[in-house]
Amino acid sequence: MRVLGIETSCDETGVAVYDSAAGLLSHRLHTQVAMHQAYGGVVPELASRDHVRRLLPLVRAALEDAVATPASIDAVAYTAGPGLIGALLVGASFARALAYAWSKPAIGVHHLEGHLLAPLLEAQPPEFPFLALLVSGGHTMLVDVAGLGEYRVLGESLDDAAGEAFDKTAKLLGLPYPGGAALAALAERGRAGVHRFPRPMLDRPGLDFSFSGLKTAVRVALRDRVLDESDRADVARAFEEAVVATLSEKCRRALRVTGRERLVVAGGVGANRRLRERLAGVAREYGADAHFPRPQFCTDNGAMIALAGCLRLVRGATREPPAPVRANWPLDEAGI
Ligand code: KG4
Ligand code: ZN
Repeated sequence: MRVLGIETSCDETGVAVYDSAAGLLSHRLHTQVAMHQAYGGVVPELASRDHVRRLLPLVRAALEDAVATPASIDAVAYTAGPGLIGALLVGASFARALAYAWSKPAIGVHHLEGHLLAPLLEAQPPEFPFLALLVSGGHTMLVDVAGLGEYRVLGESLDDAAGEAFDKTAKLLGLPYPGGAALAALAERGRAGVHRFPRPMLDRPGLDFSFSGLKTAVRVALRDRVLDESDRADVARAFEEAVVATLSEKCRRALRVTGRERLVVAGGVGANRRLRERLAGVAREYGADAHFPRPQFCTDNGAMIALAGCLRLVRGATREPPAPVRANWPLDEAGI
C-alpha cells in the first residue's frame, strides 16, 4: 500500500509518500516561518494562501523523488484537524480533489495522531501499546496509546502549550519568532542554577500541566534589568530546566500509573536536546524504552501524515470523516 500524505494545519506545507513495505519513499517541506516572522506569529490568511501556492509543486516533487506515478498511489491522506481552519481547508480540498481524480480514497488524519506515530518512521519503531508525551506549539498532553486509533488522554495543559511557553519566553528574551529552538540554543550556553523558576503543577497530583505562570515568572525576573548575553543565557537555561523537569516528572508518574514499557515523545518541543536526554533517563528508571522521531519529524511534516494514512489504509479504516476538516477535534474522537 502506498499513500501520498499532505500536511497543511498551520505554517508548514508538508508532502510525503509512504509505502507499507518500503517505508518512507520521499518527503518535502516548505516552511512559512520567514513570511510570518515580521508579524511575530502566524497570520492565518497568509498561511492559507501560501499553502495554495506551494502544494502542487511539492506534490510533483515528492512523487518524482519517490519515483511514483499517480497510478501507483493507493490513497491520499491529509490533515483534517485540529488546526487553522483556512489552512486545513486548502489541504483537504487539494487532497480530496486529487483522490477523486485518481479514484482513490481520501483519508482525513488527526494531526496529533500524525505526531504520535512519527517515531514509527525510525529504524527501531516502537510497538503498540505505548505512552506518548506530545509536546508541540499548540498542545501538551500525555496519551495512553493502546493501538492505532485507540487514544486515551491522561493529562493536558490547562493553559499554554509547552512550545507556546518556549515561544513566548523567547520573545521576552528578544529572540525572533518562533523562538523555541533559538531559546534552546541560547540555554546551551547558560549556567545551571543561577536562576530557579517554579515547576508548575508538580505539587498537585494528576497528569495535567500549566505553563502560563512560568512565563510570568520569567517576565518578573527580567523586569527593570538590563541583561547581557550571558545573563540571558542563564535565564534561558533556568526556563528550559523548569519545563524539562516538569515534563519529566509527569512522564514518570504516567509510566508508573500505566505500567507501559515504551515512552514515545513527539511534537516540536520533542526536538529539544535536554528534554530528550532527561526523558531517556526517566524511561530507563522504569525499564522502559524511549522512542523519539528524528528532530526533523518532531515538527510538522508530511511524512507523519502519509504514515498515519497508510496504517489506516492497511487496517481498512478509510471511512470518510463526518466533516472534511475540524479546527477543534479531541484526539480521543479520532478512533477507527
Ligand atoms: O509540532 P510543531 O511543529 O507545531 C505544532 O503542531 O504546534 O511544534 C512547534 C513548536 C514551536 O513552539 C517551537 O518553538 C517548538 O516546537 N520547538 C522547540 C524546539 N524546536 C521547536 N522547543 C524547544 N526546543 C527546541 N529545540
Ligand atoms: Zn504539529
